[in-house]
Amino acid sequence: MEIITDIKRMQRLCSDLRREGKRIAFVPTMGYLHEGHLSLLREGRERGDVLVLSIFVNPTQFGQGEDFEAYPRDLSRDAEMARSVGTDLLFAPEARGMYPAGYATYVDVEGLTDTLCGRSRPGHFRGVTTVVAKLFGIVQPHEAFFGRKDFQQLAVIRRMTADLNLAVEVVGMPIVREADGLAMSSRNVYLSAEERKQALVLSREIALAQQMARDGVRDVGEILAALRLMIEKQNDARIDYLQICHQLTLQEQDRVDSDSVLLMAVFVGKTRLIDNGFLLQ
Ligand code: PAJ
Repeated sequence: MEIITDIKRMQRLCSDLRREGKRIAFVPTMGYLHEGHLSLLREGRERGDVLVLSIFVNPTQFGQGEDFEAYPRDLSRDAEMARSVGTDLLFAPEARGMYPAGYATYVDVEGLTDTLCGRSRPGHFRGVTTVVAKLFGIVQPHEAFFGRKDFQQLAVIRRMTADLNLAVEVVGMPIVREADGLAMSSRNVYLSAEERKQALVLSREIALAQQMARDGVRDVGEILAALRLMIEKQNDARIDYLQICHQLTLQEQDRVDSDSVLLMAVFVGKTRLIDNGFLLQ
């Protein structure tokens, strides 16, 4: 595995690989890898000739007062993990290379970014789509792999890729969880032992909503009321948003159907966690 920090060199290497007829599989991340990231890399390894991982804690997707500085970083540990699943190229650019003086171009997906995480974190998706578009331009992948853990992010990236006619197949992958149900996240390291216990409320919310839907409850208001009651019992948990939406439009629904997905962001202590699950699939 080669680690590359120089953007021009990375782009040249990827152009050459494409010219040689190699299929490039790409997994963009912010590092501090866990099994969720590795599941994307393993799928990429299966499907591509060359497996590319990027690690870049992207400053433009963090808002004022968010955790850009504190975001966990450990490149040598990440490199070891990436190597263990057969990564060929690890691209780790520097912020001043990605956003040099005079940088002025941003990609903004309208509509889909107005709700959910987009409402709570203004400008967040603009940063995500901008960096992903840039990474696509550098790596020139045939396929790029994203987790459904970040459900709205996946929808927004699919929209951008279609709208900008980018020649990349965007592949969505299942959420990888700890044995007790907590969705894996680089941010889980922020949780104290007590918060870690309370964080289980997110996956329990999904289980409860799925149970109610399976039992025949179709009224979204009734389900959300039960979920709110459950969260309120946790001392250190505070709802940022809790919604049942159509999986494609991300518009809120009144009635549960086979397109319904429960989407939530919950603060546990100071840590903001997200999770989601389909109700009838
Ligand atoms: P990051 O949070 O590092 O996540 C990188 C990829 O791993 C995303 O596609 C995310 O959905 C996926 N992922 C994270 N946790 C997962 C889990 N438990 N199960 C399955 N997949 C999981 O998402 C970002 O970085 C950034 O916004 C990025 C797209 C790299 C742009 O900066």
